[in-house]
Amino acid sequence: MSKLQPLLDQMTLQEKIDQLVQLATPFFKGAKDAGEITGPMLSMNIKEGNIQNAGSVLGASGAANIRAIQAKHLEENRLNIPLLFMSDVVHGYKTIFPIPLAIGCSWNTDLAEESARIAAKESAVSGIHVTFAPMVDLVRDPRWGRVMESTGEDPYLNGEFAKAQVRGFQGDQLKESKEHVAACVKHFAAYGAAEGGRDYNTVNMSDRQLQEMYLPAYKAAIDEDCRMVMSSFNTVDGIPATANQHLMNGILRQEWGFDGVMISDWGAVKELIPHGVAADKAEAAAKALRAGTDIEMMTDCYTSHLQELVETGVIEESLIDQSVLRILQLKDDLGLFENPYRGADPELEKQIVLSEQHRKVAKQVALESCVLLKNEQVLPLTKTQKVALIGPFADSGDILGQWSWQGSKEDAVTLRQGFANQLQQEPFVAKGSEIEAITAAFVEEALIIGEQADVLVVALGEDATMSGEAGSLTDIQLPEAQLTLLENLATLNKPIVTVIFNGRPLDLHGVIEHSDAVVEAWFPGTEGGNALADLLYGEQNFSGKLTMSFPNRVGQIPVYYNHYNTGRPKDAADAQVRYVSQYLDSPNGPLFPFGYGLSYTTFSYQEPVLSTHQLTKDETLTITVKVKNTGHTSGKETVQLYVQDLVGEVVRPVKELKAFEKVSLQPGEEKEVQFTLTEAQLRYFHADMSYSSDPGSFKVLVGPNSQETASQLFTLV
Ligand code: GLC
Repeated sequence: MSKLQPLLDQMTLQEKIDQLVQLATPFFKGAKDAGEITGPMLSMNIKEGNIQNAGSVLGASGAANIRAIQAKHLEENRLNIPLLFMSDVVHGYKTIFPIPLAIGCSWNTDLAEESARIAAKESAVSGIHVTFAPMVDLVRDPRWGRVMESTGEDPYLNGEFAKAQVRGFQGDQLKESKEHVAACVKHFAAYGAAEGGRDYNTVNMSDRQLQEMYLPAYKAAIDEDCRMVMSSFNTVDGIPATANQHLMNGILRQEWGFDGVMISDWGAVKELIPHGVAADKAEAAAKALRAGTDIEMMTDCYTSHLQELVETGVIEESLIDQSVLRILQLKDDLGLFENPYRGADPELEKQIVLSEQHRKVAKQVALESCVLLKNEQVLPLTKTQKVALIGPFADSGDILGQWSWQGSKEDAVTLRQGFANQLQQEPFVAKGSEIEAITAAFVEEALIIGEQADVLVVALGEDATMSGEAGSLTDIQLPEAQLTLLENLATLNKPIVTVIFNGRPLDLHGVIEHSDAVVEAWFPGTEGGNALADLLYGEQNFSGKLTMSFPNRVGQIPVYYNHYNTGRPKDAADAQVRYVSQYLDSPNGPLFPFGYGLSYTTFSYQEPVLSTHQLTKDETLTITVKVKNTGHTSGKETVQLYVQDLVGEVVRPVKELKAFEKVSLQPGEEKEVQFTLTEAQLRYFHADMSYSSDPGSFKVLVGPNSQETASQLFTLV
């Protein structure tokens, strides 16, 4: 029996039901402001009593503010049960790190863990107990605005980053630590597969695709002891996740053994009505609770109807008890019964939040997550060159991304400021255009500034609202105004370095052809300007590699590296000219593939050497590859290991990432990189959904990205 059972036994039915509701800050006395509002504020039938008994608060921040809310609550809560404070600290609290899609491009899970640890430290001292992160949705569709919150298109890599972030947020002594917060993995499940890339849209996929591609990263987080899970807005196989018994009670709780708290995403319980699986709030409450949704975020189906559902025998009170105990257990795991204020410390907060040390780490993450996509001998810049910074992002603090809630643009180092810090003098700057508008005067000023320079650094991109939640687009080219600016600047016939600030892979037509170099900066966070200046002047070398493919055109989407071969592969040796799987107006492959990224130096790879070409089920295969820095600059190279199962009971991806290692190499230095493979890594879901490997032929592929690889064959016997 839970040690919290005696407390549960003292609670009235309504007090138990109210423990299941999560409300945003405006409902609570003592709150200094409205806090983070990230969804529709619908009218709710919430009474004073519901608030006095509420279980948790969404979106509050600040140590003094949270202490005031908690103190007021404890005065009024009959059983002195403390509130849980939860917020979206996705990639930083006040010190904002690059967006997760950028962090993924660092291929540095240690750095990702460090960034989460810092985010947790700033959050905990500011009074937060739980963060709604990591977001681990696998993404293949850049029309979807929330790709910026993911680490990309590969299940294994997403799983590695999920584990790293959970470790960083939670540490290993959550109860004792005042510098960590509980993590909440989201959005369960397969939210990234919304049809048409349109947010909140239907997800339709086979159980196999779900198990093979979309679920592994959530499971990785659960296996790393992530304390909470958030349900997604979408349907999975015709049933909204929030009420999906198979997904929640079946896979998450019975198969995976998760017994922590499941919270609905904002309003997702009540949204069962527009989904058409609940006639009213009472039915929505019953279906969500039965599926194991413990907390209802920001709607009132539970508080308005669970009492009557129990009294009329529709819902067993034991279901409510189970959810309440999970929530009380989380409060106990965080030490809130001993100290309801936990780490909230207004004085310490001033020293910890946005400290120089935290900024230093934020800069390092930005350095490793920017990706050099093109460079035709124009980078690195030299201090003797006269540089003109031109574009709407030449001096913009809007480089934090949509989920940067407590971060402020004023704290961000803009590209101009980064250059000024680097050059110890102000660079020439012209805005050139707005994000989506341009005038003749803008162009004229930009051309005048550009004419006087030796090289143009053109800073273009999306503003933070053009991606993120509810930020879906059908056209993923840069706005016309910015393409017009770049086209005008190209008439100067000067070297052009284009730096793009964005939350998704873009269709780079109109950019690539006019640029001698292209840098993918993503939303690089609070230290973005300093990191980019270091990279562009060669103080630091690029090492970022894409974790989400860049399509040639939006019409190509979805385009991703771990695809199936089809029965008429275009690249087959005996391929027909016409009757193959192809487009008449576009290549099949992406403009830039998964794993791609350039450096200021070059690397050579020897052929991979296998310890054996006959692998038994209990042996370990070792793959050794020699990598050499063949250039004149030190650099970091992420060596990637892929495997192809040549014949399966079901079709198998043309390659799957199984391991990677980021190595630092001095000019001329060569290193032996070793990977291991076991039979367990060759298993897959068969026709009957059994998970196992088959004897047969496999290909090992090693290289700097998912397209340039050297391969060897081996047989599993
Ligand atoms: C939003 C988002 C979710 C976030 C939650 C609370 O709708 O979908 O990612 O954690 O609401 O802000």
